[in-house]
Amino acid sequence: KRPIIIDTDPGIDDAAALAIALFSDKLDVKLITTIAGNVGVDKVTDNALKLLTFFNKNIPVAVGVNDPLIVAFEDASNVHGQSGMDGYDFDEPAQELLLDEHAVNAMRRTIMDSDVPITLVPIGPLTNIALLLKMYPEVKGNIDEIVLMGGSVTRGNKGVMSEFNIATDPEAAKIVFNSGVPIAMAGLDVGWKALVHPEECNLLKDMNKTGNMIHSLFQHYRGGSMKTGLRMYDACAIAYLLKPEMFEIVDTFVDIELNGSLTAGCTVVDLKGYLKKPNNAKVCLDLDPQMFKEWFIDSFKACD
Ligand code: BDR
Ligand code: CA
Repeated sequence: KRPIIIDTDPGIDDAAALAIALFSDKLDVKLITTIAGNVGVDKVTDNALKLLTFFNKNIPVAVGVNDPLIVAFEDASNVHGQSGMDGYDFDEPAQELLLDEHAVNAMRRTIMDSDVPITLVPIGPLTNIALLLKMYPEVKGNIDEIVLMGGSVTRGNKGVMSEFNIATDPEAAKIVFNSGVPIAMAGLDVGWKALVHPEECNLLKDMNKTGNMIHSLFQHYRGGSMKTGLRMYDACAIAYLLKPEMFEIVDTFVDIELNGSLTAGCTVVDLKGYLKKPNNAKVCLDLDPQMFKEWFIDSFKACD
């Protein structure tokens, strides 16, 4: 099993990604860390605990940062609801899973204690990861790869050109992309093709307890824009780990625009090599929508 740490801001698509990762027989989720993103850190931590309690999974959770490094925090409760995970009535979460240790320290300890290099899977803004790499650079030697959901080769969803996770803390993203740790980026270009339509969603409803819960959350995701397909952004990072053949992937150089008056917070993906910098990221350019759909629904069969 591949050992991973998931840094997350649940988040309805985060919830689906977490379900698949936690029940996968190929992944070993060592730690879940939380980061403000879709909503503030207290709410996303509560959501992470609710999910783990629901799944009956004994995975430690460590609370991360509530504020981006420099820019002001803006949430995405318009997409995920006021709680960040509206649409299901969860039981009270098991507080014993909560570590009395900051996310950054918990990540350091988990990485340094591991016999095999750990893969980090950030599916929210990158503040915790940037702090980890700056405060404890020794971890770089035992990180296999950072497989993240964020950024875009083309357009944005927070700004014209900027994606939510990157634009929420662009300085942190810049630190991460320039850290020297190998990165895999599943951004909006593939997230927009990772669609779940009503037909598939209905399959989840009667599949099992997890499928039923995810089906309920999906009724509240993006104001119920189900007909055009719900975008499973964060599941793309998990799909990259479990079924990379569904992607078209290119090795390239990526940096973050911090100062552009129109483009701040966007990922600059140098596909043509204008910047003459060594490659630092494997970027997902395209995804096979049918393969994604089948993989996604099939994955939930194990979520029982
Ligand atoms: C990203 O933003 C969040 O709203 C989603 O959970 C996903 O991580 C997509 O831009
Ligand atoms: Ca997310």
